[in-house]
Amino acid sequence: MKLFDVYPLFSIEPVRANGSWLWDKTGQRYLDLYGGHAVISIGHSHPHYVKRLKEQLDKIGFYSNSVQNPLQEKLAEKLGQLSGYTDYQLFLCNSGAEANENALKIASFETGRKKIIAFSKAFHGRTSGTVAATDNAKIVAPFNANHDITFLPFNDKAAFKSTINNEVAAVIIEGIQGVGGIHVPTSDFLQLISTECKKHGALLILDEIQSGYGRTGKFFAHQHANIKPDIITTAKGMGNGYPVGGVLIQPGIKPWHGMLGTTFGGNYLACAASLAVLEVIESEKLIDNAAELGKYWTEKLLSFPIISEVRGLGLMLGFDLPDSNKTLRKDLLGKHFIFTGEAKPNTVRLLPSLALKKEEADLLIEAMAVELEKTVSA
Ligand SMILES: Cc1ncc(COP(=O)(O)O)c(C=O)c1O
Repeated sequence: MKLFDVYPLFSIEPVRANGSWLWDKTGQRYLDLYGGHAVISIGHSHPHYVKRLKEQLDKIGFYSNSVQNPLQEKLAEKLGQLSGYTDYQLFLCNSGAEANENALKIASFETGRKKIIAFSKAFHGRTSGTVAATDNAKIVAPFNANHDITFLPFNDKAAFKSTINNEVAAVIIEGIQGVGGIHVPTSDFLQLISTECKKHGALLILDEIQSGYGRTGKFFAHQHANIKPDIITTAKGMGNGYPVGGVLIQPGIKPWHGMLGTTFGGNYLACAASLAVLEVIESEKLIDNAAELGKYWTEKLLSFPIISEVRGLGLMLGFDLPDSNKTLRKDLLGKHFIFTGEAKPNTVRLLPSLALKKEEADLLIEAMAVELEKTVSA
């Protein structure tokens, strides 16, 4: 059988990883400033994480959601404590798209409505409702296209105010847009959305799948704007590579048996991985590290004449390349063995482990200095 060929692949085969580093099968070492799409939060193969998973596997790896699993409660408690959402409820699932799909479903159940507001350049996943709420017609199949979604311009308060009404079930927005190119919603915009949702009985869903788990220097990116959404979704950094997603639900929304469900969600290994992540984030003060290194990197990046703006917060940063330097990302990987991310058409995205060290951050700046100096003098 052949693989269904949907991914353009680098010809690199990683066989080992540690902290912010990967090694391929030839022994070449790579600096990972992308974390496999923002997934590696505490660093590759962190010893506490590995130990927690191995110990759990020796005890019990899986049973379904029909028996008591106190690890789920421990995880909910720890997540509530670190995020500040102690009174919210947690539904565990397996991926980002699944978290958002469930969030949209909860909002629709709760309001009895089906209209959703999303924003330009949004990415929320590839399941039916989430891909319909994603601003990329190319990946929306006819089967997915019948949802009632309105796309509004990002950060446009007037457009939002004139569109929200009492028929809207939910507004879904990323804490910081990732796939769209690292675009930060202004605090004003988020505050207006929050107020208007309350006024019209619509629920506010904050997609923190990429921007959450300490990446921006607060547990969730929306906490920079001092708002409290009804529903918050998480995945990516939550399991540091173990597939896990979560939906945080405000206390006023009442569950009923059978309302949601999943076979794998919240299994023992997923909980052990997620607990290990939170324990390391706390004990190694990784949220502070993300905030500090984000400021440091931004300052250094802005010293390159070709970079006029660095968008994002903490260790979720993006900058645009002019046409003259379009090959930078390719050169960083091919010549300096540094993984970075991209957003079409010309944005470089930095999404490293939150345990990145200053010396590692400097390696990017040094490599860029070599490449950009060459371009300038060429
Ligand atoms: C903001 C956001 N939401 C949802 C998703 C979908 O997550 P997953 O690929 O785990 O389904 C992504 C993935 O890139 C994302 O960045």
